[in-house]
Amino acid sequence: VADDRDVAAFGRRAQSYDSGWLGRLHSEVAQRTASVALSVTPQPRRILDIGCGTGYLLRYLAAHIANAEAIIGVDAAAAMIHVARARATDERVDVLNSSAEHLPFHDGAFDLVLSTTSFDHWHDQEAGLRECARVLDPNGVLVVTDLFSTLLLPTLVGKRRRKARTRSRAERLAFDAGLSVVGWHPVQPFIRAFVAAHR
Ligand SMILES: C[S@@+](CC[C@H](N)C(=O)[O-])C[C@H]1O[C@@H](n2cnc3c(N)ncnc32)[C@H](O)[C@@H]1O
Repeated sequence: VADDRDVAAFGRRAQSYDSGWLGRLHSEVAQRTASVALSVTPQPRRILDIGCGTGYLLRYLAAHIANAEAIIGVDAAAAMIHVARARATDERVDVLNSSAEHLPFHDGAFDLVLSTTSFDHWHDQEAGLRECARVLDPNGVLVVTDLFSTLLLPTLVGKRRRKARTRSRAERLAFDAGLSVVGWHPVQPFIRAFVAAHR
């Protein structure tokens, strides 16, 4: 499990993460991401949410996709997983303390993989996208929502200099991971979702 300062900070915020305006923003982003995903793959059966936090998106998907068989979340912060597990009431939902870079699932295990506002925090985005491609069914779909804008180019300095915060960088990383970005969708100002599939 990744153990960097970002993840430790998320762990400390786990109990209060869903409250206030930031909590509302995250739930709006999650709902919009779910509608983007369901517009491209209306009946997913095996779903993975990477960086699931407190599990809001998992619960939302469980309430909206009657035919899903498994709705799994992973998060690098153990405290987030404790909260998500305590709040999960649907038996199809399960959560694991694991990182995007090392997903504990077999090849092709999911037909929908999502991630909302987590990608920017991944320690190794390239390795994470390779793992997404590996666990994605050959006909599966990946939906990643995060900050993507050329206006963020000035922020790409220091330890953030290799981050994929623009569409072109994200598309290049996805391509190198064996995926092809097939669409971009607006979610909130500066926040966009990309949809990718095996190339
Ligand atoms: C901004 S929060 C978003 C949580 C949730 N997806 C949401 O939209 O509310 C980012 C989450 O990503 C997790 N995270 C950071 N790096 C990760 C990694 N490499 N693998 C898995 N989860 C990670 C953090 O622990 C945190 O819970």
